[in-house]
Amino acid sequence: MQNEFEDILYTAEQIQERVRELALEIDSEYRGKDLTIVGVLSGSLIFMADLIRYLPFPVRLDFLTARSYRDAVPDGEIEYVEHFREDLTDRHVLLIDDIIDTGGTMKCVCKNIMRYSPASLAVCVLLDKSVRREVEVSVDWTGFVVPDKFVVGYGLDYNGRHRNLPFIAAIQEGL
Ligand code: IMP
Ligand code: MG
Repeated sequence: MQNEFEDILYTAEQIQERVRELALEIDSEYRGKDLTIVGVLSGSLIFMADLIRYLPFPVRLDFLTARSYRDAVPDGEIEYVEHFREDLTDRHVLLIDDIIDTGGTMKCVCKNIMRYSPASLAVCVLLDKSVRREVEVSVDWTGFVVPDKFVVGYGLDYNGRHRNLPFIAAIQEGL
C-alpha cells in the first residue's frame, strides 16, 4: 500500500511519538479537571482515538460534523451539525481536528461552541498548514506544521478515500 504514496511526510511511528507528546502536554493542562473532548468528524477520528488513549485520566467525548464545500458552493459555506449528548455549558472543552488550513472551519466551530459558554475552550489539531491561513484562530496544540501540499492518511481524505492509511502522505490532487 505504501508504494502508491511516494511523498510520505510522517510515518506511523513518527505520528505516534508526536501524539504521545501532545497527550503529555494536555495531561499537564487538564489533570484533575472534568474535560470534554469534542471531535470534528470525520477527519479527527483516528487522531482522537489515539490521543485519548494516551491520556491517563477520564475524559468525556462528544462529536460534531463540520465540512467545507470548497468545490460545491462559494467559499465560506460550512455544513455544521452537532451530535452532542451533553450540555457544554461550564465544561472545559478541547476541540480536536485533523488539520487547520485557511482556518474557516475552526473559526465556525469555535463560534458555535462559544454559544454554550464553556468554562474554557482550547483547540488541538494534528496538522497546521499555516502558510494558507486566512482567518485568525487560536490553536493551543499542534502536532506538525505541514507544507502547502494536499495530504491524506491517518484520518485525512481525498474525495472520501485514504483516511485509513496509517501514515500521512502528500498527493497530487486530481489523480
Ligand atoms: P479550513 O476551513 O480551510 O481550515 O479547512 C479545514 C478542513 O479542510 C479540514 O478539516 C479538512 O477537512 C480539509 N482539508 C484542508 N486541507 C486538507 C488536506 O491537505 N487534506 C485533507 N483535508 C484537508
Ligand atoms: Mg475536517
